[in-house]
Amino acid sequence: MNDANPLKSAVTDTLQRPLRDLRISVTDRCNLRCTYCMPREVFGKGFIFLQRVELLSFEEITRLARLAIDLGVRKIRLSGGEPLLRHGVERLIEQLAGLPTTDGQPLEIAMTTNGTLLAKKAQSLKDAGLTRLTVSLDALSAATFRRMSDSTASVAQVLEGIAAAQAVGLAPLKVNTVVKRSVNEGEILPLVRHFRHNGVILRFIEFMDVGTTNGWRLDDVVTAREILNRIDREYPLRPVDPNYAGEVAKRWSFIDGGGEIGVIASVTQAFCHDCSRMRLSTDGKLYTCLFATAGSDLRGPLRGGESDAALRQRIAEVWARRTDRYSQLRHAATVQPVKRIEMSYIGG
Ligand code: GTP
Ligand code: 5AD
Ligand code: SF4
Ligand code: SF4
Repeated sequence: MNDANPLKSAVTDTLQRPLRDLRISVTDRCNLRCTYCMPREVFGKGFIFLQRVELLSFEEITRLARLAIDLGVRKIRLSGGEPLLRHGVERLIEQLAGLPTTDGQPLEIAMTTNGTLLAKKAQSLKDAGLTRLTVSLDALSAATFRRMSDSTASVAQVLEGIAAAQAVGLAPLKVNTVVKRSVNEGEILPLVRHFRHNGVILRFIEFMDVGTTNGWRLDDVVTAREILNRIDREYPLRPVDPNYAGEVAKRWSFIDGGGEIGVIASVTQAFCHDCSRMRLSTDGKLYTCLFATAGSDLRGPLRGGESDAALRQRIAEVWARRTDRYSQLRHAATVQPVKRIEMSYIGG
């Protein structure tokens, strides 16, 4: 590929935020129908998912990832939809894991999965070069899990997946729990009890108003403060410093040595000021915010034969123009007038 004039320097956006994270959605499909993400009324039988030719191939994804690495990306997270539904995703991980960084800093390759297909795949994911894994699990009780995920998948399947991932050394493993008022609030303490002393970092996420289909209301948000108070009453906690600047979760550890938990307060304590995440959708559009209304198409130029240098420049320009800080600007009670992009398409 012609690369005569590479722009190999890190970029910052209009708020001086560097580009560090690339979140790649590898499929817009999922085998669950979590009510807050892919409600069945919208993502039911008649819903039209992307066709195969519309998806970026692994080679195309890897090429774009390489260019984003040149611009500063050091962490790649594969998500979806459900990434384990993408046939041969291990091959993509292998290709990404082989990408060099210019400054010797390691490249992290993480994945967020619902865990239902994980038990059989854990070893091959590890072998392919996955460095970290996050599993979404909103409840331990069968009834609440069914209600949140609107599916016939079982909690046991997910727990088996988590155990398999730990057994192959995908650790420390994180578990993400979205908390919705009056639906799974009662699961907070059982989940804490289950994962304490187990090497798992459990993180509670405030229910967000992503997309326009999940019927979000501020009343449904259980705040991080409330979640922490509940846990602290039974298992006292103390704050822990962030692992890195811009970490989304606030870390807390059990003072009795039971391990660590986190809270992701995207609604009540926005973290846009150091947000360094860029998102690549399944069909090759670049989004600079989870709440974006439009993306920049890369698939067209990519398939049209654009050079590495020109594509890299294109990505750099998208980032340089970035002004997003949706969560900071979010007006709590505002209804949603515009059609925002859905999380299953853009990648959680
Ligand atoms: P680590 O790399 O382990 O620190 O994980 P992470 O927190 O970057 O990734 P993860 O996918 O586990 O993110 C957890 C959750 O936080 C997501 O599922 C979203 O609900 C939320 N989240 C992640 N990134 C953003 C973001 O940029 N904006 C907002 N508003 N929420 C986000
Ligand atoms: N609010 C908060 N988190 C969400 N996720 C999906 N939709 C929402 C939402 N509306 C999270 C899931 C999973 C990741 C892919 O995104 O729990 O951890
Ligand atoms: Fe699927 Fe994850 Fe969305 Fe649930 S939150 S529907 S598991 S993509
Ligand atoms: Fe980043 Fe947008 Fe989320 Fe703010 S709302 S943290 S800018 S993705």
